[in-house]
Amino acid sequence: MKALLLAIAAAGSMLVATQAGAVDAAAAQALAQKSGCLACHSIDKKVLGPAYKDVAAKYKGDKTAEAKLIAKVKAGGSGVWGPMPMPANSPQVKDADIKTVVEWVLSL
Ligand code: HEC
Repeated sequence: MKALLLAIAAAGSMLVATQAGAVDAAAAQALAQKSGCLACHSIDKKVLGPAYKDVAAKYKGDKTAEAKLIAKVKAGGSGVWGPMPMPANSPQVKDADIKTVVEWVLSL
């Protein structure tokens, strides 16, 4: 009985976590749109820049990726995905917003 209750509690909290995640993802995507990122990126197709799903796959398991990518998005740069450079997104996009969008990209 106790195990059953625990299982129900666990399932319930997973449901809450999933719903919270979905809201965060929608908010982060809206932020990416507002910040101009989606002019050059899409979630699953290469545009000018790489598809965000490809970015997530490339850095899967790399614990330093978040910090590296935040720095790259701020300053811009080229050479990782091809010769096309990404222009600097800082300071016109706030640091906190860049962090939120990069976390979302890595979660895709
Ligand atoms: C003008 C077009 C453009 C805009 C705007 C843009 N990007 Fe990019 N982005 C690129 C290109 C091109 C690359 C590939 C750069 C490379 O090959 O090193 C890239 C690469 C990336 C990468 C992968 C970097 C790496 O080293 O693997 C991330 C993450 C990223 N962009 C996130 C963002 C975010 C977040 C924003 C919005 C704040 C943004 N981009 C806005 C063009 C753009």
